[in-house]
Amino acid sequence: MSDAIWNHRHSDGRSREDDLDEVIARCGRQQHGTVARRQLLALGFGADAIDYRLKRRRLHVVHAGVYAVGHEALSRQGRWMAAVLAGGHGAGLSFRSAGALWEVRPTSASKIEVTTPRGQHPRPGIQFHRASLPGDEVTVDEGIPVTTVARTLFDLAAVLTPRQLERAINEAEVRRLWDQLSLLDLLRRYPRRPGSRTVRAVLGAREAGATITRSELEVRFLELVDRARLPQPRTNKVVEGFEVDAVWPEARIAVELDARSTHATIAAFERDRERDRILLAAGWRTVRVTWRQLEFAPGPPGGRPSETARRGYAGGVSRLTDPWTLGGARIANRVVLAPLAGIGNWFVRLQAKRFGAGLVVSEMVSSFGLAYGNERTIREFLRIHPDEHPVSIQLFGHDPAVMREAAAMTAAAGADLIDLNMGCPVRKVCRTGAGAALLADPERAVALARAARDGSGLPVTVKLRPGREPADRSGLVLARRLVEDAGVDGIAFHPRHVSQQHGGAPDYVLARELAETLPVPVIVSGGLSSEERVRRAFAESGAAAVMLARGSLGNPWRFGRLLGMYRGQPSRAEVADELAWVIACAEDHLGVARADRYLRKFYPWYADSMGLTRRQREALVSAPTTVHARAALASVARGERVLAA
Ligand SMILES: Cc1cc2nc3c(=O)[nH]c(=O)nc-3n(C[C@H](O)[C@H](O)[C@H](O)COP(=O)(O)O)c2cc1C
Repeated sequence: MSDAIWNHRHSDGRSREDDLDEVIARCGRQQHGTVARRQLLALGFGADAIDYRLKRRRLHVVHAGVYAVGHEALSRQGRWMAAVLAGGHGAGLSFRSAGALWEVRPTSASKIEVTTPRGQHPRPGIQFHRASLPGDEVTVDEGIPVTTVARTLFDLAAVLTPRQLERAINEAEVRRLWDQLSLLDLLRRYPRRPGSRTVRAVLGAREAGATITRSELEVRFLELVDRARLPQPRTNKVVEGFEVDAVWPEARIAVELDARSTHATIAAFERDRERDRILLAAGWRTVRVTWRQLEFAPGPPGGRPSETARRGYAGGVSRLTDPWTLGGARIANRVVLAPLAGIGNWFVRLQAKRFGAGLVVSEMVSSFGLAYGNERTIREFLRIHPDEHPVSIQLFGHDPAVMREAAAMTAAAGADLIDLNMGCPVRKVCRTGAGAALLADPERAVALARAARDGSGLPVTVKLRPGREPADRSGLVLARRLVEDAGVDGIAFHPRHVSQQHGGAPDYVLARELAETLPVPVIVSGGLSSEERVRRAFAESGAAAVMLARGSLGNPWRFGRLLGMYRGQPSRAEVADELAWVIACAEDHLGVARADRYLRKFYPWYADSMGLTRRQREALVSAPTTVHARAALASVARGERVLAA
């Protein structure tokens, strides 16, 4: 087939090739950058058109009949999706790969596992399992067909040890992904499948409480004591010749952690009663605590920990659309715009607000810059639009006296809240002792928070990381100190360690730990790049609210969709109008010459939101001035292509 046919142009100047590329790009976007040959054939593409794109390297072969669109660097989701497409109709990600997607098992570097109803030729990098998946055992997560959590666990039972399976089940429970009934249903459905014996054994042991080890029990018990604000007991002490698990000597209370496996026999029961009698005679009360009691023990402000987590701190609700309060400020819903340096000025915040955000936080502002800054710096950084309230201005710095003054200026400018940056990993910030460096200087961090409160008279929140590197929990400890010693009203928590910067998976379980134990709201940040991820992070973390950062760039519609105020994707014309509004605001804020430079980073975000092909976006993303950008936008809206400047 000659290239000339594919370069045929419509009367409006667009080529047929552009149309087809756009269809492929759209298909690819919905499937993490992958598409199957059979899908393209079903969409009406001829084999020649597909081969032409392969030759031109617009499509790249990942597996036979499965292509990557545009480039070969697929994300992990892209690789999973490609393997599922290779499995053909009715296929789903399964076994270890599904375990990794659901995050109930560590990611495995081995082959991607796919269950498919038809026999498939072996493909490098994929392990096929042949089985038909009933409709209630397969679902779609992150756009990828995958076995349900219960079916995934059931499959995994055939390849994991009972201990590994139990951990995976626990993980699913902690993440509230799993319902034991459905695993029992599968056991009834497949009583003799490989693995069903392991499932039965693990469920039986869980039912009896026998698999909870003593040390796990002890950890849970101490957490409960902490949550109940009781003094920490001494553990593993000898009292009247008996070893007891925990004691409060002053109150003469001894605690026995009943791990069942060690206390279940009649002989053991008799021994325990005898021991209790001897201790009682010596003035000790013995309290027996079972794993069940700990499992269902109340956490603040009441109810089972899991229920507390689901509701969030702020008062018995679970939806993103529910109002809440932060330091006395009423926030209309639980979707917050994150602080974004060099981006989060008044019009970006106002835009998020127009699309529904309940609270908007400014880019970080230097407390020194304000206290010693020139008039223009102050005017630009503290500019607040009357329609963006409630608004929080984020400050950073290391000197409490300077912070006090900057906070006072921020309050005078009309901010409703102040957020303090104690999570920024950037060297330039940390070198001064500000940002994440404050994790190592809790005294200073507390003094800064007090100064911000005293100087402004406003509610103060702090944005924090969990620690400097994995296993460092200094951020969690600091969060508590900030609340207890400085009266901080909320914590914005980005559960990636400082060493991770902005990459890697955020640890929402850690966020949940904080949300369940702090007496103030926790706002979770990190990894919120799709609506599905936002909803999952909200549920998993039990946080009072979510904070959108990169996932909102050029995509304010995401706020609307999360809050049920907007449906579907915006049209190109809508996106073009929105960007035109941003350009006008930037010119007003910075003057035309500075806006020319400032806006260059915005154009690719909006080109993405418009779903432009590489050629179509060229003129916009390389626009040197706002005049060029407006011309590019006008032609995109008319469906033309303009030449890049
Ligand atoms: C370009 C950029 C600028 C940021 N600026 C700030 C900032 O000024 N203050 C702050 O506390 N966090 C800042 N962050 C961190 C974000 O607020 C957010 O916590 C982080 O990006 C994780 O969320 P995400 O994975 O959903 O993007 C910034 C992140 C990015 C990508």
